[in-house]
Amino acid sequence: MVATVQLQLDPLELAAHLQLLMSLRGDATGNPSEGCAWTGDLNGVWQLHYHPAFAPLMAQVVEQAWAYLVEIGFDRARVALHIQRCWPVLSDWDQAVGRHHHPNAHLSAVLYLSGSGSGEEGVLRIHAPAQPNELVPGLAVGHGGPIAADHPLNQAHWDLAPQQGLLVLFPSRLDHSVLPNADPEALRCSISFDFALTAPAEGDPSEYLAPHPSHWSAQVSQAT
Ligand SMILES: [Fe+2]
Repeated sequence: MVATVQLQLDPLELAAHLQLLMSLRGDATGNPSEGCAWTGDLNGVWQLHYHPAFAPLMAQVVEQAWAYLVEIGFDRARVALHIQRCWPVLSDWDQAVGRHHHPNAHLSAVLYLSGSGSGEEGVLRIHAPAQPNELVPGLAVGHGGPIAADHPLNQAHWDLAPQQGLLVLFPSRLDHSVLPNADPEALRCSISFDFALTAPAEGDPSEYLAPHPSHWSAQVSQAT
């Protein structure tokens, strides 16, 4: 399930955030791969959740992450929620992000600090893991149907236009990409979040939920 929430961002705080993110990007213009936006996770800027300037923003996003989990059926008392990684993505004219998902996390989110809502700065494309109306995978593939190619349940992807303050929450398993920024005047700016779920620190964990990290024991490699 993909959820969207419009957050109210303080204009002064937002301006300060944009300035700070620009300075964190420094002189870099993008990631090493040709045409790729600058993403903080590959450039040493992946812990915005520890940056004091972003603390109020983190609180807003975490509140929404909890609301999302409750909405899809999680019992708040039986899970612990962790921000695992949090990084900015800055996309200049013609820059994009290729198709990927986040295998390191459970729940992912993106908050747009810029965006007019037109999609010109590059839409977020969520790729459908399967066509929901195919009774058997592959049924809709082939010449002449039988499923109407333009049926809403038969789409290969869903596009979402960035808009300042828009928060998108989605399962980390979903493939997504960002289309090129087509506005030469606009800098597309967003903050990505990866959340991990574990059992709470107290009590016995459910079978398939990882125990709380405070109970983990790091092991040093004995290899020489
Ligand atoms: Fe991503």
